[in-house]
Amino acid sequence: MITYVHTNIYKISDYARHLKSLDQEDRYSRFGHPASDYNIDQLILNMCYNPTDHELWYARTDEQRVGWGHMAKNQDGTWELAVSVAKEHQRQGIADKLMSEMIVWAKFHHIPEVYMHCIENNKVIQHLAAKHELKTKERGDGERTAAIEVPEPNFVEVNTQLFKEQAEIVREINRLRGKLANLWLNPSHHND
Ligand SMILES: CC(C)(COP(=O)(O)OP(=O)(O)OC[C@H]1O[C@@H](n2cnc3c(N)ncnc32)[C@H](O)[C@@H]1OP(=O)(O)O)[C@@H](O)C(=O)NCCC(=O)NCCS
Repeated sequence: MITYVHTNIYKISDYARHLKSLDQEDRYSRFGHPASDYNIDQLILNMCYNPTDHELWYARTDEQRVGWGHMAKNQDGTWELAVSVAKEHQRQGIADKLMSEMIVWAKFHHIPEVYMHCIENNKVIQHLAAKHELKTKERGDGERTAAIEVPEPNFVEVNTQLFKEQAEIVREINRLRGKLANLWLNPSHHND
């Protein structure tokens, strides 16, 4: 079974590892250029400096994380959406589900517009963009931009998202409570 989780900066090193594990073809499709490990490190550094401008989602099997969704805020208030899935887990509906999660999150948080860059020959992402009602525009340089003006969420989406975000808060409180309990039981770890 695959689980989809909205996460935060704590998982950023796993995200970096995932991006670096993409082969050349997938890196090119993901970034629109043959991104090097150095380029990926720059992106990760930028995320660390501006954590509130980035939202991350991952998909995981029982063993490992296999796909990531990333939304990054621009200065004009629009958000760029990107998604990537480990080669051996592609074509199982993972990107589709990650995009649904991201778009519902965007609706719930009244994000006015999201867009993604799709290179011209990436028919899969163009198909997914159209499926999620992102309209694609040619940019003339071998790239398309797929954008959506995000509509208001419906009643079911509001409630589902509310429930998820409350669950995230509870998970985080439990994580911190566990850490505190650990410190209390093992005070010598205090200075670790
Ligand atoms: C693009 C990418 C994210 C897709 O991930 P994925 O998990 O394999 O995608 P899904 O399985 O959710 O969906 C694939 C869809 O494309 C369709 N598809 C498959 N081959 C296709 C083709 N040649 N032409 C058009 N559609 C195609 C599938 O039928 C499916 O559609 P459906 O949901 O209507 O059934 C993945 O290939 C990837 O990581 N690529 C590298 C990074 C990248 O390109 N990111 C996008 C830019 S940010």
